[in-house]
Amino acid sequence: MTDRSLFRPVIHFDSVTSTMDVLAALARDGATSGTTVVADVQTGGRGRSGRSWAAPRGTALLMSVLLRPPGPIATWGPFALLTGLAVARAIDTHGDGRCEIKWPNDVLIGGRKVAGVLIAAREGGAPGSSALIAGIGINVTTDASGLPSRATSVMQHTGRSVSPRDLLDDVGIALAELYAEFCQGSIRDPLEEIHQRLAFRGQYVVVEDGSRRLQGWVRGVGHDGSLLLEALDGTTVAVRSGELTRGPVPVPV
Ligand code: BTN
Repeated sequence: MTDRSLFRPVIHFDSVTSTMDVLAALARDGATSGTTVVADVQTGGRGRSGRSWAAPRGTALLMSVLLRPPGPIATWGPFALLTGLAVARAIDTHGDGRCEIKWPNDVLIGGRKVAGVLIAAREGGAPGSSALIAGIGINVTTDASGLPSRATSVMQHTGRSVSPRDLLDDVGIALAELYAEFCQGSIRDPLEEIHQRLAFRGQYVVVEDGSRRLQGWVRGVGHDGSLLLEALDGTTVAVRSGELTRGPVPVPV
């Protein structure tokens, strides 16, 4: 049975700069694995690659969870995808559709972004002191005026009335299950589910990582959380980080 107590204590704030910052400070002070920070609004919410993340007060689930997984942080690579999977499963309990996971850690519903995941990891000096903070932002009741273009919310997509609080419980349950599997070293089934849910699978994409630009057909994800691309020359390339966009299909010459 899932250990629901994993995500405790849940510390709820009215307003914070970013739940990531609040939880990072608690982690430095020795907070235990499972400590969760939730806020109604963020004044300096962050997304990946230095982007900001904003949501009107009370319309989104804004949370960060502290985990202290076993092993060195170099082995925590799959965590972004596993957190995305937890979010996808949680949202799916409220809708008829099936959420997709856009590598490395966006969750799409009906092809539009409904949630994002931000992972921060810090190696500690003493055993058990390393920390992983999984930040999750889910547009829950946000209407079109509060959403960036190409984004949606759970309510907009499903038409159902769901609260950020409902989703907090569902994400907690899903993440606890996946975290237990990760700690036991048994994430084969979750990786297969991520493969099935992978956005752009079989399509030609471009991944940009700083000055690096990789292109190929999306074939799946690796055990370390990398994206597996089949390049034009037929070789498989494992991409560890970057921003993915759908690319133009190459024309044979
Ligand atoms: C992304 O899509 O780029 C990731 C977005 C992550 C947003 C969440 S909201 C809760 C937590 N606090 C933050 O400042 N960011 C994450």
